[in-house]
Amino acid sequence: MAEVISIVSGKGGTGKTFTAANLALALQNFGEQVVCLDTDLDSPNLALQLGHKPEDHTIEDVLKGNINELKAVNVHDSGLMFVPSSLHLTDDRVSEKRIKSMVDRFSEFADRTVIDAPPGFNEGFYSSMGISDRMLVVTNPEYQAIQDVRKIAEEAEKHGVDIEGVVLNKVEGMLEEASKEEIEKTTGLEVIQTIPHHREVSKSVHRMEPVVSDPHSKIGHSFRELAANITDRDFRAPWYSGIVRGIRKMTRR
Ligand SMILES: Nc1ncnc2c1ncn2[C@@H]1O[C@H](COP(=O)(O)OP(=O)(O)O)[C@@H](O)[C@H]1O
Ligand SMILES: [Mg+2]
Repeated sequence: MAEVISIVSGKGGTGKTFTAANLALALQNFGEQVVCLDTDLDSPNLALQLGHKPEDHTIEDVLKGNINELKAVNVHDSGLMFVPSSLHLTDDRVSEKRIKSMVDRFSEFADRTVIDAPPGFNEGFYSSMGISDRMLVVTNPEYQAIQDVRKIAEEAEKHGVDIEGVVLNKVEGMLEEASKEEIEKTTGLEVIQTIPHHREVSKSVHRMEPVVSDPHSKIGHSFRELAANITDRDFRAPWYSGIVRGIRKMTRR
């Protein structure tokens, strides 16, 4: 059976979609067959993070019974398979049973399904959690967000789901930010990746090219490290990536 990893957080805007898309791409680049599934129907950004526009062939089409699970699978240039959510607001709901039947179908041909889950603690969040083998919690270094992580840790424990760790995203290094150590102490979870707040992210969305699509991106390397870490692989950023980035800066490309 394919493994299901959900990317969750307490509220929107922490970087779940950014993490789901780039982690899925990094796993795909390691030679896995990955399906990335957007279950956040209220903020459907997965396709946009991947540089696609979702039109038809969405998760809502499957929920409405218009198409089967396979027809909703879109393929990114990298070969990553993904199921987007529609940009239109709908009343569709993602019950655990429905997501499970989709994911079971994908597991016939994929090694892993990465779920871009809705923010906690609504039905879609619990549905995604219910069918996950493990979860990654994305947070920003704010004290309120950390309380959300604590709540997620409690819910995961109640439901018997493993939390792999915390991705600490949008770190600016300001004095008022919560540190990695404080987060670990408060939540009892390990911070397994730290990602800076960087203009490269908004630029990559604007260019419709995820950071992992650039083989020398520093933030892309953070996702390659994360993907390697959670699948027990080794990854070391190539020593010449810094030189390539330096040359690009000089030539403004
Ligand atoms: N490390 C980062 N640096 C800069 N911008 C970021 C970073 N991570 C995410 N963003 C931006 O923040 C916004 C929210 O991220 P998103 O992944 O959509 O959050 P969520 O899915 O949790 O609601 C997006 O515009 C995204 O491009
Ligand atoms: Mg999102």
